Amino acid sequence: VSAVKGNYRHFMQKEIHEQVRSLTETMAGRIDFQHNSILIPTLNIDEVDFDQLKGIKIVACGTAWHAGQVGKYLIEEIAKIPVEVDIASEFRYRDPLVDKNHIILAISQSGETADTLAAMEEGRKKGARVWSIVNAIGSQAMRLTDGYISMQAGPEIGVASTKAFTAPLVDLYLLAVMMADKKGLLSAQERSQYIAEISKVPDLVGTCLDRENQVREIAAKYKDTEHMLYLGRGINMPIAYEGALKLKEISYIHAEAYPAGEMKHGPIALIDEDMPVMAILPHDQWYEKMISQVEQAKARGGKVIVVATDGDTLASSLADDVLWIPEAFWMVNPVVAVLPLQILAYHIAAMRGLDVDQPRNLAKSVTVE
Ligand code: G6P
Repeated sequence: VSAVKGNYRHFMQKEIHEQVRSLTETMAGRIDFQHNSILIPTLNIDEVDFDQLKGIKIVACGTAWHAGQVGKYLIEEIAKIPVEVDIASEFRYRDPLVDKNHIILAISQSGETADTLAAMEEGRKKGARVWSIVNAIGSQAMRLTDGYISMQAGPEIGVASTKAFTAPLVDLYLLAVMMADKKGLLSAQERSQYIAEISKVPDLVGTCLDRENQVREIAAKYKDTEHMLYLGRGINMPIAYEGALKLKEISYIHAEAYPAGEMKHGPIALIDEDMPVMAILPHDQWYEKMISQVEQAKARGGKVIVVATDGDTLASSLADDVLWIPEAFWMVNPVVAVLPLQILAYHIAAMRGLDVDQPRNLAKSVTVE
């Protein structure tokens, strides 16, 4: 039923627009507003001895790996548990320092990615508890675990992942709050604050979708560029990577992402009028640092597009173009900030006349090495 494009030109566009619903679904039944708590029975969280837990190792590939990097910020900040994020194909061929006091947390849309399954297996062999956040129901990564979170995003057809990127961001946030609660770290007031902030996500995403036309106008300006450099910092650094990945995989434009503070160690040499810079610049604790990166890019003749918070006049005075996002709690910003980047990549690829849903050389699910 879901594999119908409806009024949309491509599945990717449809799936971008499904995110209000998919993000509502991923929280549905999991937040108990009466008791202000989060319940995910399939995770079997009560089996975990948090006093003994040494850390969580997130393993994933592609877009899911970017989600995992945001998860590190969320889990370390909220639950105070050390997290390492590994590319599954690297993890499986290392001798990772993992034992029974670790959790391996795999993130996978398909639940069938060969490298991710192998990384889970490697963790299991070493005695770790294995968890997953998975979209495809009944997939291996859902079945072969000690506990899982279902993304509940519905089938995703477009090769470039969109709703299966934002759903795990919300799931990781819920997981972080749940673990913090199990560890006794949160007061009732803090818990309800965290829950209130994440509950706003579907509305915030809806606001971004309403602005599709503004993003399309910016797409028209940049559709013929040959390169684009994405910069982000802190919890939004992975969003720069995800934005660049979206653009390169469907538009074949060379897009690179960098943690903004690293710009001075190399990529700044590339900046000129032919290398537009996309800076992820929401109102958060990294804002001032990001502003100075934007100023440096401008000083070198670069065109700068920013993802900025509504009302940010400093950002709009510095930038050539602005992708506006609504104000959100900083830990929720990644879910919001990625929306205009998905929409931009989609429209650039569509304007270039490319096969958005089936980009060359890529597969939706990579079940071989
Ligand atoms: C492929 C897809 C990507 C996806 C990655 C991981 O490369 O084209 O969109 O992010 O696999 O897939 P998974 O199903 O494990 O999330």
